[in-house]
Amino acid sequence: MSTTNIAIDGPAGAGKSTMAKIIADKLGYIYIDTGAMYRAVALYAIQRNIDTNDVEKIRSILDHIDIDIKYDEDGQVILLNGQDVTKEIRTPEVSVGASNVAAIPEVRLKLVELQRKLATENNVIMDGRDIGTYVLPNANIKIFLTASVEERARRRYEEMIAKQYSCNYEDIKKEIEYRDRNDSSRAFAPLTIADDAVVIDTSNNKLEQSVEMILQVIKERLS
Ligand code: DC
Repeated sequence: MSTTNIAIDGPAGAGKSTMAKIIADKLGYIYIDTGAMYRAVALYAIQRNIDTNDVEKIRSILDHIDIDIKYDEDGQVILLNGQDVTKEIRTPEVSVGASNVAAIPEVRLKLVELQRKLATENNVIMDGRDIGTYVLPNANIKIFLTASVEERARRRYEEMIAKQYSCNYEDIKKEIEYRDRNDSSRAFAPLTIADDAVVIDTSNNKLEQSVEMILQVIKERLS
């Protein structure tokens, strides 16, 4: 039996994970946050004082890193060598580190293998940067979510404050701009819009409006 795969790509802070989670719940699909996997690789390096831009070093630690995901009542749990690191991977330092290690082809190939396996075995809604273009080029539906950098930074800032992280808007905006540049300019599987993706700009939308737009696309494509 073949599975149904929905790809959601887009830059940092476009609302991919929030919307993908809601839609996965509605459809009874599994939500897969691929960014968490890159974050876990970055966390492993940072914990050992390894520069996430040191390509040779990062390559040399890959065999010591085992990434897996499981699910509990709060959603996806990311396991780094069997340890739950779901919370630790959400710092700004790990965000930048994830973007750096994600430029290394060997890192991507290792994680893409797990991502494809999950999509073969389950109906999934998977979010990331290269899902529609590289990981699941035959996905049934591809959505590219975007929003202005100011709006994305504002949303991220409010999210962090709500979670009681100390941060400031300008730093978050700079981090997002850095990652936009890094993620779009890398040579291997960069962030780009798949030819057959539906592009949704969420800058002026309420969350529910964007979710509704995506559900509408899914309904049309799957009918
Ligand atoms: O989605 P996120 O912000 O958690 O992702 C963190 C970084 O990981 C992002 O800046 C780029 C990288 N990433 C990637 O290159 N490819 C993916 N499919 C997902 C994330």
